[in-house]
Amino acid sequence: MTLTAPPEQDIIILGVSGDLARRKLLPSLYNLVAQDLLPSAGKIIGMSRTNLGQEGFINLAREAINEFSRNDLDESVWDSFKSRLIFFPLNATGYALAKECCEEGERVVYLSVPPWAVPGIIVDLHNVGLVEGTRLILEKPFGNDLTSAVELERILHKVFDESQIFRIDHYLGKETVQNILAFRFANSMFERVWNRDAIQHVQITMAESMGIEGRGNFYEGVGALRDVVQNHVFQILSLLTMEPPSKMTSEDIRNEKEKLFYTVQALQPASTVRGQYSAGNIDGERVPGYIEEEGVEANSTTETFVATKLMIDNWRWAGVPFYLRTGKRLARRTTEIVITFKEVPLYLFEDICPGGEIEPNRLFIHVQPDEGMVFTFQAKQPGPDMRIQEVSMDFSYRDSFGKDPAEAYEWLLLDAMEGDRTLFLRADSVLQSWRIVQPALDNPSPIHTYPAGTWGPPEADDLIKPYVWLLDEP
Ligand SMILES: NC(=O)c1ccc[n+]([C@@H]2O[C@H](COP(=O)([O-])OP(=O)(O)OC[C@H]3O[C@@H](n4cnc5c(N)ncnc54)[C@H](OP(=O)(O)O)[C@@H]3O)[C@@H](O)[C@H]2O)c1
Repeated sequence: MTLTAPPEQDIIILGVSGDLARRKLLPSLYNLVAQDLLPSAGKIIGMSRTNLGQEGFINLAREAINEFSRNDLDESVWDSFKSRLIFFPLNATGYALAKECCEEGERVVYLSVPPWAVPGIIVDLHNVGLVEGTRLILEKPFGNDLTSAVELERILHKVFDESQIFRIDHYLGKETVQNILAFRFANSMFERVWNRDAIQHVQITMAESMGIEGRGNFYEGVGALRDVVQNHVFQILSLLTMEPPSKMTSEDIRNEKEKLFYTVQALQPASTVRGQYSAGNIDGERVPGYIEEEGVEANSTTETFVATKLMIDNWRWAGVPFYLRTGKRLARRTTEIVITFKEVPLYLFEDICPGGEIEPNRLFIHVQPDEGMVFTFQAKQPGPDMRIQEVSMDFSYRDSFGKDPAEAYEWLLLDAMEGDRTLFLRADSVLQSWRIVQPALDNPSPIHTYPAGTWGPPEADDLIKPYVWLLDEP
């Protein structure tokens, strides 16, 4: 399929002076220009309360691309990108100028601001008349719990129709996450074993080696359950476990995800382990503990690690445990799904291969880094004896397609410009996700410490017994 640029429209980024705009949005838009995937005409309007000025905005964009773009800055692409950039301050005058600048036609408005700024901006957009023709991109978190999420939805829907709202979860823009759907529904052999008859248990690990990177003020009181499990991990879980949609359309897929979330049991505090990192070593370097980080309370009980067991009450998955874990300052950065199939019912090789253990088949899905899949199975070792050994079949994105997957934000921005909502969250899924985590938020389980650079507190290993946490070796 050849990609074509979306129809003409403008893009407004509110909060353009911030981290997300610099790290992701401006470099992604630049890379879309480089691929001829931005509309042939259309402005990129940056707005922030900090009055960067036109010159300051252009400098910021250039520095952001130099620092964070996956492709080096090319002067001719930059000239074309730069000609689209316009800055307005985020105040009444700036709003009026923005309205005047993109009065005609459609636009994407990206709220790259902290969550507490969102309600006021929704009212401002309404008052200035920037609602009709707007597709609104919202960043997580979508609320802080079920009650606040319901309130946020109420505010949004007072001004915008659901069809105009694009709730972003950048994990859904990752090729490997989308590949879960291709893998399941474009291959006939896997879907037949994708159920409780054949699968023993499933693990999802989303590990970061980074700490909170000076964002203590943001992270305190949020924690891993809200920051990662309720959104990224649940989105991966939904693609892994939903029923096949009748068509690959946005609404069919989102309907199936919603049906899935509806059947997920709420998390039990008793089967949820919370942890917080203490000082330790990452890549040979000493790093401080969480409570020594800037902006963190000395007696903080915010979790930087969570592991939980989740059950799904539907025909396909009843009785199959899903173990989820995520954390900061873990031994290495990886996002991985491990599907363990049931063991063989009889070990037929006992007599000729005594004492041998047959590991069950496993499918490792590497979401990041080194995107790809590994399927493990048993084979006879060469030689006169019948000896069994685990071997694997590997699929690597880089090797098969000759390039690394694109940055998730590029595809998500493109989809929003096209009006394709497949990879964006619908309000009902967001509320269901909060319903699932709410009991674990209401009755937080005790907090256990773990040294930075390890795989979390030992209590997480107890949670998963009789199994063990698995990761494919790098
Ligand atoms: N950074 C990431 O990699 C990342 C990843 C995933 C999701 N997110 C989400 O994306 C959003 C933006 O993240 P960020 O890291 O860029 O945050 P940030 O740096 O803290 O904030 C972005 C910008 O918002 C503006 N702002 C702050 N308070 C405001 C207010 N009350 N009204 C209007 N503007 C205000 C600030 O600019 P001025 O003070 O100049 O107005 C700031 O530069 C957040 O919701 C965050 O959770 C970020």
